[in-house]
Amino acid sequence: MVADLRTSDDNHFSVQSNGGSGQAPIKQPFIIGVAGGTASGKTTVCNMIISQLHDQRVVLVNQDSFYHSLTNEQLQRVHEYNFDHPDAFDTELLLSCMDTLRHGRAVSIPNYDFKRHQQIEHSRMVNTADVIILEGILVLHDSRVRDLMNMKIFVDTDSDVRLARRIQRDTVERGRNIENVLDQYAKYVKPSFEEFILPSMKHADVIIPRGADNDVAIDLIVQHICTKLGQHNLCKIYPNVFVIYSTFQI
Ligand code: ADP
Ligand code: C5P
Repeated sequence: MVADLRTSDDNHFSVQSNGGSGQAPIKQPFIIGVAGGTASGKTTVCNMIISQLHDQRVVLVNQDSFYHSLTNEQLQRVHEYNFDHPDAFDTELLLSCMDTLRHGRAVSIPNYDFKRHQQIEHSRMVNTADVIILEGILVLHDSRVRDLMNMKIFVDTDSDVRLARRIQRDTVERGRNIENVLDQYAKYVKPSFEEFILPSMKHADVIIPRGADNDVAIDLIVQHICTKLGQHNLCKIYPNVFVIYSTFQI
């Protein structure tokens, strides 16, 4: 069920210089990428991981925050815009924000409005943390983003389930009608999933079938993070899982 528990960088705890000022060395955060198709449960999985890491400082960064705002011209033809293409995101800005967080500094992350297809004026200030989770449909697509990650996760949920959830969510929360949701899904969401998102699954260290329904996979991931953070005793909520995990350690 859980494909592989290797992390991309077992040396994330190597300390970095703080410029020779004599201050304590800065410990680099453990960076986790969580990718998967639309409505696969990425956010739900992240929240489950965060709630189990209650003794760690964790921040969640959404790739959605880095959508380009549409111009007036694009807004008039919004039904011809592909929000599932890698070019829909400002990846340079995402890389810069992640780099700032990685080096222990707070950063301003944009807020995105799915109803207006625009950045919201007020961004949010995010402090760095022990664990940074970067979540989004295409976070495993670009090698520069992948290279930041210590652990890469792909949430693999059946596409019919995802479409059903998407219809529900977009009509209730994102101000869409069913006809538009289905048109967009057939024209852009499904083809881009097949072209860009699904192929990025091969970069994952861990694949979670059934998303948030898979408690076992989430427990194993949390135990692995705790081991990497050197905080076993703070995370031993599931001692049996920890024992099983130990036999899988490579
Ligand atoms: P994503 O971040 O991948 O778009 P979300 O976690 O936001 O997905 O989930 C999309 C929708 O599906 C939300 O309304 C969420 O409450 C619901 N959902 C997610 N996982 C489950 C699940 N395991 N069972 C039932 N509903 C779920
Ligand atoms: O939360 P989720 O991962 O589903 O968010 C990504 C999805 O949001 C994409 O599949 C994209 O089609 C959709 N989207 C949208 N309108 C926007 C921005 C993104 O429908 N303005």
